[in-house]
Amino acid sequence: MRPPARIALVSTFAIAAIGIALARGKNPPTPDEPPPAAPAAEGAPVPVSAPEAPRLFPTSPPVAITSLPPGLASLSAQGCNACHAAAHDTWAGSRHSSAWTDPVFQAALASVADSTLCQSCHLPLQAQHPSIAAGYVDGAISRPQMVENTAFDAGLRSEGVTCAGCHVRTLPDGTSTVLGTHAATNSPHPVAVTAELRTPEFCATCHEVSWPGADQPYYATYTEWKSSGWAAAGVTCQSCHMAPTTGANVPGSNGTAPAHTYAADPSRALSALVRMPGTVHRNEAFDLSLTLQNTGAGHSMPTGNPANSAVVTVVLLDAAGKELAPPWPQTFARTVDAVAPYRTTADTRIASGGQAAGTHRFTPSVKGAPGLGYAEVRLALGNGKAARTYLLSRVPVTVE
Ligand code: HEC
Ligand code: HEC
Ligand code: HEC
Ligand code: HEC
Ligand code: HEC
Repeated sequence: MRPPARIALVSTFAIAAIGIALARGKNPPTPDEPPPAAPAAEGAPVPVSAPEAPRLFPTSPPVAITSLPPGLASLSAQGCNACHAAAHDTWAGSRHSSAWTDPVFQAALASVADSTLCQSCHLPLQAQHPSIAAGYVDGAISRPQMVENTAFDAGLRSEGVTCAGCHVRTLPDGTSTVLGTHAATNSPHPVAVTAELRTPEFCATCHEVSWPGADQPYYATYTEWKSSGWAAAGVTCQSCHMAPTTGANVPGSNGTAPAHTYAADPSRALSALVRMPGTVHRNEAFDLSLTLQNTGAGHSMPTGNPANSAVVTVVLLDAAGKELAPPWPQTFARTVDAVAPYRTTADTRIASGGQAAGTHRFTPSVKGAPGLGYAEVRLALGNGKAARTYLLSRVPVTVE
């Protein structure tokens, strides 16, 4: 375990610098007030009043944590793991935990000349940065003045978007606290309550970013959500991406904790409606129409980094499971210029609540096996080779 002294930072002057030129999703204007304490009945236990929580990201990440919360020996996810195994284990399987080690990110990082900006959301704590920007030459974001960070902790850096990045903040008096959604009565560390954790604006700190000259935000997941029917219905990022799971081993948590996998079910993101004949004939062309509706995602499909795509492929299978005809792939993605300010040149993504319809002519091969076959609609999400595939729909068809 790390001694507390390693966490103390040499400087706090760089916190605001990185965000100067960035227009991000707006955070709520004021910190959350803890609810007024109810008058305690005679002999009843005195309610624990949580300290007022500071803004989660008063500026842009990375944030400085200048002391360890009392009762904690380390800021690392491994330290939290001792008591919060459910949150830890689900987080460990998510891309938040691999935000730094991710080879796709590392390859992209290696290809940009100045990577200071790129690291700010992937490494939300100052102690995760070997050097920090003390300021910018002539205020230009591309010309940071870097200084060595003596509080740098390589182990913490490998944890990417680590627990403390979202849950630990230093208060104005210099002490640090854990931020949670309930006042904890039996925690070994202080807990400050903040409703901000449950807001989409909190996620927007990193899931929304733009810069001067951009025609639209580079990451726009928050804006997309804000203009969707889900926002109007009060369904937040957390509702879909952090549903309660059982298995929490923390006393007082009722055995449930929000899932830190952040996973929403990809096969529910898009609904596929297929129109085709019930019987098809070998060597005879027929038309298959496909309507895709974004009924399950609170933002465009795909969302986020422009390198992400959704490829929907219709495959026609014969009774033996062999492909009867060449597949019909359709790619839904955003195309951006390769150079700053990264203007969007094409956008075929499906907005939340929106749809895409198309028709394709298939000619089943004479070599196909007669009998009961299928038209399958498959979805591949992600980024090139790292794409994951799901089955959206399977329609039975008689092959004659
Ligand atoms: C990307 C930000 C983020 C990271 C990283 C993160 N959390 Fe959370 N955590 C949240 C949010 C948001 C909530 C509240 C979700 C809700 O209630 O809807 C939460 C809730 C919790 C809770 C409260 C459970 C309850 O019943 O109220 C615990 C405990 C917790 N997190 C522990 C951890 C631990 C331990 C880690 C690291 C292994 C971690 N978190 C990493 C955002 C994060
Ligand atoms: C030694 C055990 C221990 C360690 C280490 C520990 N916690 Fe806790 N934590 C607890 C207990 C016990 C509670 C109280 C749970 C309750 O009352 O529901 C708690 C409460 C919390 C809550 C508030 C839960 C809520 O309902 O909002 C959060 C968030 C949290 N811890 C996060 C963390 C994070 C992040 C770390 C690592 C930086 C950490 N904890 C380290 C034991 C621990
Ligand atoms: C400190 C910055 C930060 C915050 C705050 C943050 N994220 Fe992320 N999130 C990231 C980064 C960086 C990645 C991508 C990591 C990678 O793949 O390199 C990511 C990835 C994700 C993914 C993809 C996960 C996967 O495993 O496929 C989801 C979903 C997600 N975030 C949801 C959320 C939600 C919901 C919130 C708010 C509760 C949130 N994030 C808050 C930085 C953040
Ligand atoms: C109505 C439910 C819903 C809401 C609300 C929602 N999402 Fe999603 N989100 C999904 C589904 C479904 C997917 C597709 C699953 C996937 O890509 O793994 C997804 C995908 C994502 C991804 C891409 C994950 C990846 O693996 O590349 C990110 C990032 C993300 N959401 C972040 C957010 C953020 C941030 C918010 C709030 C501003 C939000 N989501 C609101 C359902 C939702
Ligand atoms: C405002 C915060 C933020 C900044 C700044 C940022 N990223 Fe990201 N990055 C994210 C989030 C959030 C995700 C994950 C969800 C998504 O794809 O939308 C992500 C995902 C990625 C991915 C996809 C990883 C994968 O496995 O699919 C790459 C590559 C990436 N970022 C590279 C970069 C580069 C290069 C820069 C600098 C030009 C950068 N990022 C700056 C927040 C940020």
